[in-house]
Amino acid sequence: MISTERVTADDRQAIEALLEANHLPLAGLDLGLEIAVVARDEGRVVGCAGVEPYGSAGLLRSVCVAPDRRGTGIGKHLVAAAESLAASGGISELFLLTETAADWFPRLGYDPATRADVPAAVTTSVEFTGACPVTAAVFRKRI
Ligand SMILES: CC(C)(COP(=O)(O)OP(=O)(O)OC[C@H]1O[C@@H](n2cnc3c(N)ncnc32)[C@H](O)[C@@H]1OP(=O)(O)O)[C@@H](O)C(=O)NCCC(=O)NCCS
Repeated sequence: MISTERVTADDRQAIEALLEANHLPLAGLDLGLEIAVVARDEGRVVGCAGVEPYGSAGLLRSVCVAPDRRGTGIGKHLVAAAESLAASGGISELFLLTETAADWFPRLGYDPATRADVPAAVTTSVEFTGACPVTAAVFRKRI
């Protein structure tokens, strides 16, 4: 039985291992774990998603599902849970950068955007300033 839960300090190591194994950036992760969720299957972390807060905007990042658990809706649930946590914290719009899932986020209501659409505060994030290449696709969603 898989549950989606808010991240605790004890999850950090498992999240880092999951991101590292799936070639997602660890830089700036502290901020990304402020509003974050994990999918747990009998104690094992099988997915994660986080939001870095920048006032009323947020950067959705570290969306990842263990390869052996993909295609069962975990990713969709994680994003929905992260959105709802972010909204309850006063965030009204999310932005994200991706090199690997540009065909997936539109299925969750994310619209393509450009770097010029992104609020200045969000562009100060580690993902925007260096951890993601300039070729990464930008998406946005009102939540
Ligand atoms: C992207 C990711 C989080 C999706 O997780 P998931 O749990 O498999 O997603 P869901 O089960 O909710 O959705 C599965 C559906 O999306 C499709 N899908 C999954 N990853 C996709 C991708 N990268 N691009 C396009 N479609 C994708 C699947 O084919 C499946 O389609 P179907 O419903 O028609 O069968 C997961 O593939 C992953 O961790 N990828 C590596 C890390 C990554 O790229 N993260 C995003 C960067 S910010």
